[in-house]
Amino acid sequence: MASVKLQCVSKWFARRDGDSLHVLQNVDLNVPEKSITAIVGASGSGKSTLLNIIAGLVQPDRGCVFLNGVKASDFKDWGSMTYMFQEDRLLPWRTAARNVAFGLEAQGVKRAERKERVAETLALVGLDQFADSYPHELSGGMRSRVALARSLVTRPTMMLMDEPFSKLDPTIRSQMHTEVLRIAELMSMTIVFVTHDVEEAVVLAKQIVVLNPRPGRVRETRTVDLSYPRDPAAPEVHEQARSLRASL
Ligand SMILES: Nc1ncnc2c1ncn2[C@@H]1O[C@H](COP(=O)(O)OP(=O)(O)OP(=O)(O)O)[C@@H](O)[C@H]1O
Ligand SMILES: [Mg+2]
Repeated sequence: MASVKLQCVSKWFARRDGDSLHVLQNVDLNVPEKSITAIVGASGSGKSTLLNIIAGLVQPDRGCVFLNGVKASDFKDWGSMTYMFQEDRLLPWRTAARNVAFGLEAQGVKRAERKERVAETLALVGLDQFADSYPHELSGGMRSRVALARSLVTRPTMMLMDEPFSKLDPTIRSQMHTEVLRIAELMSMTIVFVTHDVEEAVVLAKQIVVLNPRPGRVRETRTVDLSYPRDPAAPEVHEQARSLRASL
């Protein structure tokens, strides 16, 4: 069963000059449960728009979206979904722990349970020693971990990730990939991961969907049959990345 299914989704954005911009064209997408699907495509090919449509933040002009087999308009379990944005969007006036607590506060979770779940989640991402640090006291990689913890604290089963590690240096980025794979497995999560980095897609994803430039259309959907963990330096990873780059 696909936990996210898009059928023939098209999207236009109105432009100020009165024209409309065709951003997505007849996109079909099947995201299988409990695995990672990467969406790759050039800048402006509609990747973020696609994630926003899955998250219900943007309405498609045509086509249907199904979440866990339910039409998006009838879907109730939005709390099972989380969204990790390209910028970490941490609140500078809150400590790491209080940034992570944010979603639980919004859900009205009681203070004692909040505290316990925040501590647990910070430990999960290896940041238990930095609960009381403010964002400006953390490195880029640590901030990424806080953002990841904030996404995980509500115990989602589906995580949408929009190039969340694009600003990190390669070593830290690779560490974050290891973390994501470990946590996705541990929490049996379904992940849709947007990137324009083919190596990142090959290291992480079971399924890779390539979008054409505007309007975004699915050019190719491929399965990566390599076992995890995948060494970014391994020849088979290079070969996949090379052929993916050729497809782009
Ligand atoms: N709310 C909006 N209103 C008008 N145009 C928009 C809106 N959101 C996105 N667009 C336009 O839609 C196109 C696709 O944008 P989108 O952000 O989905 O691309 P992307 O593939 O995520 O690009 P990038 O890799 O640069 O993040 C762009 O041309 C953008 O200007
Ligand atoms: Mg984007």
